[in-house]
Amino acid sequence: MKKEEILLKTEEFVKQCMEGDSSGHDWWHIHRVRNIAVKIAKVENADLFIVELAALLHDISDWKFSDEKENQEQSKVRIWLEQMKVEDNFISHICEIIKDLSFKGAGVSTNMKTLEGIIVQDADRLDAIGAIGIARTFAYGGSKGREIYNPKILPVLHQSFEEYKNTKAPTLNHFYEKLLLLKDRMNTDSAKNIAVERHSFMVTFLEHFFMETWLNKESYSE
Ligand code: NI
Repeated sequence: MKKEEILLKTEEFVKQCMEGDSSGHDWWHIHRVRNIAVKIAKVENADLFIVELAALLHDISDWKFSDEKENQEQSKVRIWLEQMKVEDNFISHICEIIKDLSFKGAGVSTNMKTLEGIIVQDADRLDAIGAIGIARTFAYGGSKGREIYNPKILPVLHQSFEEYKNTKAPTLNHFYEKLLLLKDRMNTDSAKNIAVERHSFMVTFLEHFFMETWLNKESYSE
């Protein structure tokens, strides 16, 4: 099968899997991540096929939506790529990127092993900040039954993946536990540049949020 055909079929497959999602992990998230990833990949001279496939498939079986074991989580992607007759070494590379991709808490480092992985991670993180990041964060919080904010529950910088994964904190805290940290965790210069403006937009948003809610800004810190 030609690469273009594999990409088109994968796009259809992903659309079907993510249809109707209201948690911020819908098809349009994938669409944006794919576009940004491909842009960065061209600048960085990365393998476009790997980057595009990994971007398309990166949220198919995220830990946030699945309690299965890690190897089972990846199997959906692996089975799909095998069906598409993608070369074995490409399949392993893509599965590895997807496994290493997620943000797992403020104090937990996630090191991508290849240039292609670094790029998909940057693209995914860019879609978590700025105006779209704000919209997605509140949508995700709502989908998990979290409050918008609660002055009695303040942000915590999670030092383990378990802690981060199990948090039930209000969505506002998520800005301090993750979103405001992402600007400094971008890997490529292209992503760092895009992140600057998106970050400052979130800071402005938060300033207004505090003004309108009379929350004590000092109890939330970056
Ligand atoms: Ni994602």
